[in-house]
Amino acid sequence: MHLLITGGAGFIGSHFVRMTLSDYPGDRVTVLDKLTYAGNLRNLEDVADNPRYRFVHGDICDPTAVAGAMEGVDAVVNFAAETHVDRSLLDPASFIDTDVKGAYTLLEAVRQKPSVRFLQVSTDEVYGSIESGSFCETDRLSPSSPYSASKAGGEMMAMAYRKTHGVDIVITRGSNNYGPYQYPEKLIPLFITNALDDQPLPLYGDGGNVRDWIYVLDHCRGIDTALRKGESGGIYNVAGMNERDNRDITYRILALLGKDESLIRHVEDRPGHDRRYSIAADRLLSLGWAPRKSFEEGMAETVAWYRDRRDWWEPLKSGEHRTYYTAMYAKRLAEAEQR
Ligand code: NAD
Ligand code: TYD
Repeated sequence: MHLLITGGAGFIGSHFVRMTLSDYPGDRVTVLDKLTYAGNLRNLEDVADNPRYRFVHGDICDPTAVAGAMEGVDAVVNFAAETHVDRSLLDPASFIDTDVKGAYTLLEAVRQKPSVRFLQVSTDEVYGSIESGSFCETDRLSPSSPYSASKAGGEMMAMAYRKTHGVDIVITRGSNNYGPYQYPEKLIPLFITNALDDQPLPLYGDGGNVRDWIYVLDHCRGIDTALRKGESGGIYNVAGMNERDNRDITYRILALLGKDESLIRHVEDRPGHDRRYSIAADRLLSLGWAPRKSFEEGMAETVAWYRDRRDWWEPLKSGEHRTYYTAMYAKRLAEAEQR
């Protein structure tokens, strides 16, 4: 199989590229990536010389770049997206462009090639918050942020192309991922790298928000199962079955690094902050997939990776995007200090 993996230079996409090349020796991979602040060719350094791998620098919203990259592929796996909720509060336009218009542009190209399967990598955030119980795939979508609304829009576009044009689509809705190569703006890598530098950890609100955490490679295996075994038009939740609140995550990171709780700062809450995400993955489990990595092991490995790979994350935290991402919580930290 020849896969087009969009957003393959990002966090999850780069793991998916590595996994595909190593698990399927007959497969080829083309990556199409715009290399935004979150895209990083260093994430793919170890496969760069693989003759079964090709990188194309381009935007999924550009029909010409998409047509070129799609030449000869059997399936498209769309990871490309703007992904950070806090950024979507400040700059929603780029989310609508990539997460909705980008999906549409890919679907327009796929529609010309009836044998190509299109897998839209989506998120459990499209369901919105749930107080108790877990969402299943037939539940109503109720996104809360411009990020999750845009992701829901991308999904809707995929479903519409199936109904209208018969495109072979599959959708996965994954839980919160963690692991190596995650951009240090998301909770886990931000808190690990801040703690390593004895910098404050800005915990939003009361820290009681719950996420279902999945190790990145378990998520990739779930997407791979849906791609190869999923039914056309199928939607598959990819759950970690591992719900934790943000306080638990924070104390765990501090304990693993031997750092003091005094680094925690309770800051103003994120507007529209979803309280709890929870999904049931029975459909994917019935295809033979199950998460393999325990949270204890996954977190210990992730913390160790960031401790050992300052060369990877330090340039990201001190580079041109620093101002943008620190501005978001610098204000909250300053207010917390005054209280
Ligand atoms: P990421 O932000 O680390 O990477 C996104 C990648 O997409 C980057 O390489 C970036 O350069 C690329 N990209 C952005 N806009 C592009 C465009 N217009 N054209 C081409 N490439 C573009 O994201 P991630 O955390 O790896 O998430 C990947 C996918 O998985 C996203 O679709 C996201 O919604 C979904 N997802 C993420 C999580 C999570 O916890 N991170 C959970 C469930 C689903
Ligand atoms: P995040 O990693 O941004 O993922 P998402 O919002 O997509 O679930 O955030 C995970 C949780 O951590 C979420 O409840 C918000 C919270 N959070 C903080 O408390 N402080 C932070 O600095 C960040 C980035 C997130």
